[in-house]
This record gives sequence, C-alpha cells and structure tokens, in this order.
Amino acid sequence: MSQDKKPHVLVTGGAGYVGSHSAVALQNAGYTPVLVDNLQNSNMQAVRGIQKLCSQEVPFHTIDVRDATRLHALFQDFIEAGNPIRGILHFAAQKSVGESVNHPAMYASNNVGGLGTLLHVAREFEIRHIVFSSSCTVYGEPVHVPVDEGTPFQEAESPYGWTKQASERVLRDHAAAQNQERIALLRYFNPIGAHPSAIIGELPRGVPNNLVPFLTQAVAGVRDRLTVFGGDYPTPDGTCIRDYLHVMDLAEAHVAALQWCFAQKTASSVVRPFNLGTGKGASVLEVIKAFEHVTGEAVPYVMGERRSGDVVSIWANASRAREELGWTTKRSLETSLADAWKWQQTLKRE
Ligand code: NAD
Ligand code: WQD
Repeated sequence: MSQDKKPHVLVTGGAGYVGSHSAVALQNAGYTPVLVDNLQNSNMQAVRGIQKLCSQEVPFHTIDVRDATRLHALFQDFIEAGNPIRGILHFAAQKSVGESVNHPAMYASNNVGGLGTLLHVAREFEIRHIVFSSSCTVYGEPVHVPVDEGTPFQEAESPYGWTKQASERVLRDHAAAQNQERIALLRYFNPIGAHPSAIIGELPRGVPNNLVPFLTQAVAGVRDRLTVFGGDYPTPDGTCIRDYLHVMDLAEAHVAALQWCFAQKTASSVVRPFNLGTGKGASVLEVIKAFEHVTGEAVPYVMGERRSGDVVSIWANASRAREELGWTTKRSLETSLADAWKWQQTLKRE
C-alpha cells in the first residue's frame, strides 16, 4: 500500500511524549499519522525523530487545537487531496498538576476548551473515531485497589484532574448528541521509558515533577539527588505505589483502541473507558532498586517529606483492555527503566 493510501489519522500533541511514540506505533500498524502541535511543551527534535523512525516524511503542522479556522482548513485540505482524516488521537493538553493549581483557567481553556474546539470541527467533517488521553487521576484517592473502570470518581485533587473528568463528560455528551460516534477514553496510569532506539523520549522542561525523569537526571548528575516523597505511608516499605508502564506499550494501546473504534458497528454512539496499566503496583523504593539492578548505576537519593496531593497506592485492573482491545503490556519495569536511562544518556551527550 502506498503511503498516500494508508488511512490518515490526526495526532494532536503529536510532538509530545506519548503522542510521538504513538505516531510511530500508528505508522508501524499501517496508518499515516498527521501530526499537529503548537510546540508549547515540545520541539521539532521529536518530529525529526518520528520521521527517522518511520523512514519517511510524516506530515506535521504547527497548529493550536483551539484554532478552529486552521483545523477546519487542515481537514478540508486532506479531503481535497482525496485522503480524508479517518480518526483522531487527541493528546494535546497541559499535564502539570502543580502548574494547574496556579493556573486553573489556563488548564480549563487548553484542556477542555481545546477538546471542545476539536470536537466542534470534527463534527462538521463527520470524523467519529476518537481516542482520548485521559488519566488515572480521574479516580483520585481510590477506595480500593486495583481500580477498574467502574470505580467511582472522587472529587478531583487538582484543576488538572478536573480537566480530565470534565473532558470525559464533554466526550460523552458529544456522543449522546449524535449517532455512530466511537470514542475510547484511555485512562493512563504512569507512563515511563522511551523508544528503545533512544531517538525519541520524554523532554521534561525545567525540573521534572515525575519520578523517573527526576531519577535519571539525578543518576546522570543533572540533579544532586532524588528525594523520595514520604517513607511513612501505610505500604509494605512506606513509599507510595503506582502502576508504571512502558510508553511503547501505551503507544500500542492507542493503535488497538483506534482499531476498536473502527470495529464498532452499532447505530448508536459508543463511549468506553479503558484503564491502561500493567496491573501491578511498584513502590518508589522498588523502582529505585529495579533501576539499580538493570543499569548497574547507584541512585543517589534521600528520604524526604510527603508531597501534598499524592495518593498512597493506585494500580490498574486492566482486564477490560486485555479482553476488549486485545492489548496487554509486554515490557517489564526493568526494560522501561533501562530505556529511560538510555534516553537520558542521549540527552546528556547533546
Ligand atoms: P506532553 O506535554 O509531552 O505532550 C503534549 C503535547 O501537546 C505537547 O507537545 C504540547 O506542545 C502539545 N500541546 C499542548 N497544548 C496544545 C494545544 N492547545 N494545541 C496544540 N498542541 C498542544 O505530554 P504527554 O505526557 O505526552 O501527555 C499527552 C496526553 O496524555 C495529555 O493529554 C496528558 O494529560 C495525558 N496523560 C499523560 C500522562 C503522563 O504521565 N505523561 C498520564 C496520563 C495522561
Ligand atoms: C510517582 C511517585 C511520588 C518525584 C502524575 C500525575 C498524574 C499522571 C501521572 C497525568 C509518587 C514519587 C516523584 C520525586 C518521588 N499524569 N516521587 N520523588 O504523582 O503518580 O502522577 O503523573 O495524568 O495525573 O499526578 O506520578 O511520577 O509524579 O510520582 O518520590 O522527585 O513517585 O511521590 O509516589 P504521579 P509521579
């Protein structure tokens, strides 16, 4: 099949961490990703990396998803070229919990407003297959673990968390207002690691908030040491537990979810949430030990105070994704950490 005949799929936030890896997975699965990003939290290095991994030019457009005029023109251009956009992977959003506390209106405008604009234009072009980046943050502090998709939402712990709850609601209302919408709500747990080639990975701006980028920077000497946020939680080793999954497993889940959307045949709309995780929790100290074991590098760390807003323990019941998407994680925590370290070493050389 020539490149032009492959189904075109819009990837908003396609220069970002999860979007770039998903674009590569899409291309591997026989789709043509059409990347859109305003580059507010990414740069062209990721786009060049995607092109290198795909061994071809991948369409890229610097567009803000809140710009309805430019989105409209983009969709129209693909129709006129005889290759309409068939589906959307919507990643574009801001994701820093702390920043959202200081700038809640900005988060509402970008995360919820951006989704609203995109859906409004997509409706005009009858694009009905949508995969949305949601988050386990919608569950807040869960009453029991593992959490399944029926676990009720708790009050959002941050404006960021609220934007994911609100976005899911907007997507449900959008689907209810029409027929034949096929929407997958992907609730990611904790994505880590990088493409095994180390050509693309995560580019945290400034001081990383997330555990793994901070840990790899500490080992690389970019930071003095990692502070473990709290050693007195009610968990076996006193540190918080999360469900860390390899970003390439997550990327492949987007392809599976898109194919699930394409396979839905009912006259009415379908909106379905899927947890994406390994189904296993790891504590902060277990992550440190796994990193040391797989890389042979010592992690400089100290035990510190609890970080406000952290849930104690959360991991996924991911059986729905296994049963309905045919997706399960293939890469271990060790592999994920080894790939994160390989990526960090690439960054250090630059
Ligand atoms: P990222 O910041 O690396 O990628 C997001 C991309 O969207 C960036 O390239 C940014 O420039 C772009 N962007 C932001 N606002 C935009 C706008 N208005 N128009 C066009 N482009 C815009 O983040 P990520 O980690 O790849 O996250 C992708 C999605 O997954 C986000 O929706 C995020 O909330 C969600 N998510 C991420 C995680 C995680 O831990 N990384 C976990 C759960 C959910
Ligand atoms: C993991 C664990 C920390 C940094 C966040 C968002 C969530 C989702 C994923 C988008 C926690 C501990 C961390 C450090 C540490 N994103 N830690 N020292 O908090 O589970 O989730 O990213 O949707 O919404 O809240 O991930 O990587 O920040 O933390 O000890 O320097 O590592 O306390 O237990 P988190 P994280």
